[in-house]
Amino acid sequence: MILKDKKILITGASSGIGAEIARKCAEEGAQLGIHFFENIRGAQELADALSKVTSVKIYQQDFSDEDGKLVSKFVKDFGRIDILVNNAGMIDGKAFEEMTVEDYNTMFYVNSRAPFMLAQQAFKHMKEQGGGKIINISSFAVKYGMGRNRSIHYAASKATLETLTVALARLGAKHNILVNAIRPGVIMTKLQKGREDLDQVLQRIPLNRAGTPADVANTVIHLASDKGGFITGEIITIAGGE
Ligand SMILES: NC(=O)c1ccc[n+]([C@@H]2O[C@H](COP(=O)([O-])OP(=O)(O)OC[C@H]3O[C@@H](n4cnc5c(N)ncnc54)[C@H](OP(=O)(O)O)[C@@H]3O)[C@@H](O)[C@H]2O)c1
Repeated sequence: MILKDKKILITGASSGIGAEIARKCAEEGAQLGIHFFENIRGAQELADALSKVTSVKIYQQDFSDEDGKLVSKFVKDFGRIDILVNNAGMIDGKAFEEMTVEDYNTMFYVNSRAPFMLAQQAFKHMKEQGGGKIINISSFAVKYGMGRNRSIHYAASKATLETLTVALARLGAKHNILVNAIRPGVIMTKLQKGREDLDQVLQRIPLNRAGTPADVANTVIHLASDKGGFITGEIITIAGGE
């Protein structure tokens, strides 16, 4: 068990990639905080299943209107924070021409402001503890940037998250705080369901398939464990070659 007794907080773990990261962390012996926004059922079912093998607590928070306190609650419950996985994220499908300032702000609040504030809180505890790790889930949308009319603000918010990753890795290094980001490509979760151009998108992937949540979670486990002990400030793409 390569994460035995590590205290790991995963945001957006009520479904998809975050839920799979939680399952794999539990298999490796970690104790878990599972954050959710609206899907209490998903979070509760996951917590019930994982609590058979480890300590689990669930936390509700909407990142579009408040942030920061989640880490304090987690540390109060678990005593420390070894790893923060900033996985929660949203996409709203709003076209460039229709987007309001509220749409733009909400996207940035959830996808980059909340991870920043959570990292700030985590840093305080990790410094006192003698180290820790932060893993941010970005997106390959950053690579294509403004390529899609309906994901411009999504791509920009994730680009901000990547910049924060590199900057925080520099700040954290002397405190043994390692900060990395993962850039998933097309991963089959509810975020992709119903996408009109899915067939077209899948054809672009050299490995000829969509990714699975496990494809991403495996790399999170590697970074979170001692095997990832000399990796910081990296943006790792998991996109089947796209
Ligand atoms: N799937 C892909 O192809 C893909 C590709 C690139 C990057 N990503 C990134 O991977 C991460 C996980 O996405 P996923 O595919 O697993 O999708 P998902 O199943 O929809 O998970 C998204 C998670 O984020 C949470 N969330 C959404 N809005 C929130 C808000 N306002 N406040 C707090 N939490 C909020 C959701 O909470 P509730 O459901 O509880 O409301 C859910 O737990 C995201 O950061 C996404 O941008 C995904």
